[in-house]
This record gives sequence, structure tokens and C-alpha cells, in this order.
Amino acid sequence: MRLERVELEFEGPVARVWLNRPDVRNAFDGLMVTELRKVLFDLRTVDSVRVIVLGGRGPAFCAGADLEWMRAMTGFTREENLREAQALADLFFTVFESPKPIVARVHGAALGGGCGLVAASDIPVAALGTHFGFTEVRLGIVPAVISPYVISKIGESAARELFLTGERFEAVRAVEVGLIRSAVPEEDLDGAVDRRVGELLQAGPRAVSEAKALIREVAWRRVEDVQRYTVERIAELRTSAEGQEGMRAFLEKRKPYWVP
Ligand code: COA
Repeated sequence: MRLERVELEFEGPVARVWLNRPDVRNAFDGLMVTELRKVLFDLRTVDSVRVIVLGGRGPAFCAGADLEWMRAMTGFTREENLREAQALADLFFTVFESPKPIVARVHGAALGGGCGLVAASDIPVAALGTHFGFTEVRLGIVPAVISPYVISKIGESAARELFLTGERFEAVRAVEVGLIRSAVPEEDLDGAVDRRVGELLQAGPRAVSEAKALIREVAWRRVEDVQRYTVERIAELRTSAEGQEGMRAFLEKRKPYWVP
């Protein structure tokens, strides 16, 4: 597939996925939603790729949904409108459940759906000075399809404040509310992202995706309800090839085969 709105680069075990519509600050329209989802979906089965870095070309990470595109929805039938909304929801879900960990490289601005990409990713790292905001209410709409990912990261209290006001906030506040993991000076952003990537590459590739699945399964549930599942996971993984290699490597004081 020829890509118009997204760029894909490979560097050893790392795939860098760039939103590439800098003129409109990487706002996403239907084509970008389709391309981004397909790229992330296809990367699931590329064995050589172990980590995905998601960033934005130009001055901003992502200005959210393309407001021209959303405004044009009045010309759509209800079914077409629902289909576009479903495609958007599918995109965030693809980010969220990617078996490969996704580090979001965030700079300039992450607004509306841009914040949704941040929330659905695994480890978002931002430049200080990045503007965040769930600006939807100021446009007369709501942060609907992104809300499950955002609320699970920032909680109901911060969501009530930030969703209802639509106010813009800085990276330091985004760290405080738990939307991002760290904020660094802009000139250190790539170094900070590479350090997170380096840490992820220390981990067993299967173990990383199993750890993501574990979090999804366990979060917000009662211990009694998940105990069976957690017992089964550890019983399976400690006898897996990767588990055996990781433990043997530690005991033999060498690196496991997956560490570059
Ligand atoms: N949809 C469509 N176009 C957008 C857009 C969006 N979400 N965000 C920015 N653009 C366009 C602007 O209209 C402008 O187009 P123009 O060059 O034809 O005038 C261009 O992108 C550059 O935007 P500008 O505001 O001049 O750039 P900036 O670097 O000063 O500011 C932002 C960048 C992202 C902070 C600012 O554009 C902004 O606040 N955008 C609105 C984001 C928003 O509320 N998104 C929520 C959607 S639900």
C-alpha cells in the first residue's frame, strides 16, 4: 500500500511510524486513520520488529481529528458517520492492543485524538513545552472514542476537570495526572525515547506482549477473579523457551539471546 499520510522507517528491531501531515499538524482524516491502522496492524506480524516508536513530522505530534473532515460529516448518512467513528475507535484499539510495545514521541501539541494516541500507547515521552488538551467540548463535541484509554490512565477525577473544561495544559501537568510517563527538554527527546526503546529491548519479545496482555486482563478486576488467570500465565511462561532462556542466561551470567 502506498502511504500518503504516514511514514514508516525500520531500524533493526525498531519501527518508527510517523504521522506525516505536518501542514495541518498531523490532524487525522479518514485516509490517515486507515493508513495508520493498517501500518500498526501489519507490524503485529513482522517478527523482526520488537518496538514501535510513534511520532509526528513537523512542529506538532498530532492536532487530533481533522476539523474539516468532521465538519463535512453533516453531508454523511448516519450509517456513514457511524462507520467513520468506528474506524477511529478501531485505530485507538489497534494502538492499545498492539502486541509490540509502542513508545509515543510527543512534541509541540497533542490535542483531542492526539491525546488519545498518547493514552492508548504504552510509554509516552514528551518534550517539555508540549501542549495537551481534551479540547473537544470547546468545539461542541466530546472526547468519546478516546475516553476509555484516557480515563484508565488519568482517572475519573482528572478526567472530570480536563474533559469538562477543555483547557490546554503543559507536559509537567500531563505527567502529574499520569497521561504521560516523562517530560524532557526538547533537545533530549530523541535520547529519552531511545533510552526507553533500549530498556524494552532488554525484555524477552514474547514476555513483553504477554505483560501487555496481563495488564489488560488484570486492571480494575478483583484479585479473586484474576487469580486463576495469573497462576496459569506464570505456570506457562516459566516453562516456555523464552522463560527458560532468560533464567538460564541470568544463572550463567550471560545475556539472553534477545538482548542486542
Ligand atoms: N483539523 C484541521 N486543521 C487543523 C487542525 C485540526 N485539528 N489543527 C490545526 N489545523 C490547521 C490549521 O487550521 C492551520 O491551517 P492553515 O495553515 O490553512 O491556516 C494549520 O493546521 C496550522 O495550524 P496553526 O494553528 O497555524 O499552527 P500552530 O503550530 O500555531 O498551532 C495547534 C498548532 C495544534 C496548537 C493548533 O493548530 C490547534 O490548536 N489546533 C486545534 C486542535 C484541536 O482543538 N483539536 C481537537 C480536535 S477534536
